[in-house]
This record gives sequence, C-alpha cells and structure tokens, in this order.
Amino acid sequence: MPRKRKTPAPAADAATTAPKRTRKRAQLLKGFKDVLPKDEQYWDHVNRVIGKAASQYGYGKIQTPVLEDAGLFVRTVGKGTDIVSKEMFRFIDQGGDDICLRPEETAPVVRAYIEHGMQNLPQPVKLYYHLPMFRRENPQAGRLRGFYQFGFEILGAGGPVVDAQMILIAHNICLDAGLKPGEVTVQINSIGNETSREEYIKELTNYFRSKRKYLTAEEKKRLTKNPLRLLDALMTSKREYFEDAPQILDWLDEESKNHFMGVLEVLDALEVPYVLNPFLVRGLDYYSHTVFEIWPTDKEGKSQSAIGSGGRYDGLAEILGGQETPACGFAFGTERLILALKEHEVKLKAKKMPEIFLAQIGQQGKVQAMKLFEKFRKEGVGAYENFSKDSLKAQLDQANKLGVKYTLIVGQKEVLDGTVLVRDMESGVQEIINSDKVTSEMRKKLGSK
Ligand code: HAM
Repeated sequence: MPRKRKTPAPAADAATTAPKRTRKRAQLLKGFKDVLPKDEQYWDHVNRVIGKAASQYGYGKIQTPVLEDAGLFVRTVGKGTDIVSKEMFRFIDQGGDDICLRPEETAPVVRAYIEHGMQNLPQPVKLYYHLPMFRRENPQAGRLRGFYQFGFEILGAGGPVVDAQMILIAHNICLDAGLKPGEVTVQINSIGNETSREEYIKELTNYFRSKRKYLTAEEKKRLTKNPLRLLDALMTSKREYFEDAPQILDWLDEESKNHFMGVLEVLDALEVPYVLNPFLVRGLDYYSHTVFEIWPTDKEGKSQSAIGSGGRYDGLAEILGGQETPACGFAFGTERLILALKEHEVKLKAKKMPEIFLAQIGQQGKVQAMKLFEKFRKEGVGAYENFSKDSLKAQLDQANKLGVKYTLIVGQKEVLDGTVLVRDMESGVQEIINSDKVTSEMRKKLGSK
C-alpha cells in the first residue's frame, strides 16, 4: 500500500516565520588580487611576449611548487633582508616542517637545478617561469602580497657577455610588450665579488654611523642587519642627506672592475640604453657583480618602482649544496608591467571575437542550436550563445550588443524543416539555409575557408 506523504509546510509560512540570517560577505585577503576577464587580454599579451622571448633565446619553462622549505630562502635571499625577516608567509605545518609560500623564484630554480642534476646537462641551462609569489608587504599601488613574477635564469654561464644579454632580453621584453624606449630605463651597477663587497660594507656602515641623526630607529636596526638594503631604501626616501655616501664602484677589485667594464662595453656595442646608478645595490644576499633594475616612467616622465630586476648570483648554487655555478637572471612583476602598459596606453592586439550568435526558441530549438554550436566549435567557427534565455528578443538584443554580423535562429519550425534562419544584423535581411550546409555557408559569408 502506498505510504501517505506528509504535506510540506507552505513555503510562504516558512519564509515569514524563520528569521532571515544575514551572512558575512566573503572577502579577498588584503593585498591579494583577482584577475578578471576584463584584464585577460593583458595577461595573454604578457604570456605571448615572454613565450616568444623564451623560444627566441632558447629558454625552457620550469614550474616549481608554491610551498618550499623556509630555509631555502633564509640561506640564499638572506636573514637580514625584509623578504626573509618580515615578509614571508611562513608556518610550521602539521608534520613540524618549517615551510613558506615562495617569495621569489631564483632560489627554487637553483634548488631544482641541483636536485635534478642539471649541472650534468650541457651548460648553460636556460630556464624561465611565470608563477605567483607571496610577500607580506604593506599593500599599495603595484605592491601586493600575492603577485606574479615572470623571470629568466641562465645557469652555468659566466662572463660579462651573459649579463649584458640578460639585460638586453629584459629590455627587449619591455619593448616587445609595447613600451617605447623612453618609457623604461635600465639602471645598472656592480656590487662586485664578496671581497670587495665586504670592504665596501665596512665603509658604508662607518658612513651611516656618522649620519645617525638622519636615521630612524628602524633604519638604525637595518644598519646592523643589512647596510646595503638600507642604502637602497634611503636613496629613494631621503636621498638629499646621503648623496655623498661611498659608492661601491670605488671599492671594486680588479676582477670585479673588469667584469663590470665588460658588461658595459657589450651593452654599448648592442646599443642597449642604460643609466649607471652607483647606489643600486639590490638587497638580496645572493647577488654578486652586476645588478640591474628596469624602471618605468609615468606619463610625466617620473620614475616608478622597478618593474623588473635581476643580477648575477654566482655563489647561490654552492650555498644550496651544489657545485660552483656562475649564473645570472632577472624577474618582472607581471602586475607592475601591466600597470605600465596601461599608463602608456599600449594598444594590444585585439582578440578575434565570434561574428555569429546562435539563438533558439523552444526546447527542441535549444537542443538543435546546441548541436549546431558543437558543429561550429569542431570546425573552428566561433559563435556566441545564451542557451539559458528563452526570449528571442532578449537574445537578439544581446547579439546586437555584441555586434555580431549574423544571428542564426533555430525554432520549432526550423527543427522540423531541418533549416536555420540566418539574419544579417546590419541589413536585417533573413534567409533560410539547410542545417547540413550552414557551417560551410557561414564560413563563406565570413570569408574563412
Ligand atoms: P625582486 O626585485 O625582489 O627580485 O622582485 C622582482 C620583481 O618583482 C620586482 O622588480 C617587482 O617588479 C616585482 N615585485 C616584487 N615585489 C612585489 C610586490 N610586493 N608586488 C608586486 N610586484 C612585486 C627577485 O625576486 C629576484 N628573484 C629577481 C632575480 C631573478 N634575480 C635574478 N634572477
């Protein structure tokens, strides 16, 4: 015997008796960004530019995990750097491991190079990446906590020519992306080898001690931790007090000087414009010899924070337990490059948009239109649709807004007749085409083979 079903309480009653719960709206974390379809063309554009540079200069793509042992960065980027001392998203996981979200990609690339025995491959090994990075910085325009970097690293290659070519590649990427030569400048310096750097750091520390009155408590702390980074910061924030700071170029030994002169000669020969910046020291501990940054200018010609930066890091592989490996590279902040492209109103190649809208009426019409859509898709003919809409008027309005050339309409009559109604959106002229022939006819009309 069929069981009697309980009659459910009317929905209206439930709605009036149950108090409405207001739920907290989910929110993005501070300093993080969603990339929405309106910016898709910029990201596609950047990916195209770096993909092209990678294939032209012979770089292979590498992807490393987003989580790494925190020690990887402590040992290489350096304890005294802002990145390691305060910006890493670092935590002890359930197994007691000290791990972090990667704040940069040079150290992971070198780790992978050693771990996969890439030093046994023909040298140099050229790698590139485009990956999300994480730094718990104070967010502001162009400074995020979650951002993308694309970078190029050449491992197993010494000599000034290599540094010059890396700078050339970085500069070419800016031009290929659509920036004009005056809209970016290459800032370059040398921080020499370890011996000359140690001497210079002593001198710099003494100099800053003599200028203590201009330093904040935080800056004094930095002086003991990382004088090079302090110089970097002060040259942006209070340059006027420190113009007479010792310049590292005066402290370079013969080897370092020769290397740097070699880099500048090649840049001159290749006509890569650069600005010698004696106070550019970067601040990541793994650098030696050449360091450089790419600074964009705004519309008024004022320099903005670096869109790209890099340098030579000959000692990094050894710190990570590998053999001595001369290496050089750079990375760009993707969001910063995109900001520069927007600032200078760089025109992007327009994406090819569909010229057809597939409209339908009634359930059978919908199914037939879906079949047609699949046929178009397989043959590489782009089409818009809105199968969730029932009203033909709404669909035609949408087709109009999209600016398509033709709207193809499939209703019950067309399903029965095996036809499609093709409407020329500009003239309003309609014609009936047999469904079997509609893809080839539309190709002809759109001028594609
Ligand atoms: P970096 O200067 O720390 O160098 O970062 C490289 C680029 O990433 C910067 O020039 C900037 O455009 C972008 N960037 C850095 N921090 C942020 C942020 N908080 N928000 C948005 N963009 C940011 C490195 O990371 C080195 N690994 C570069 C390198 C590669 N050196 C040798 N090879």
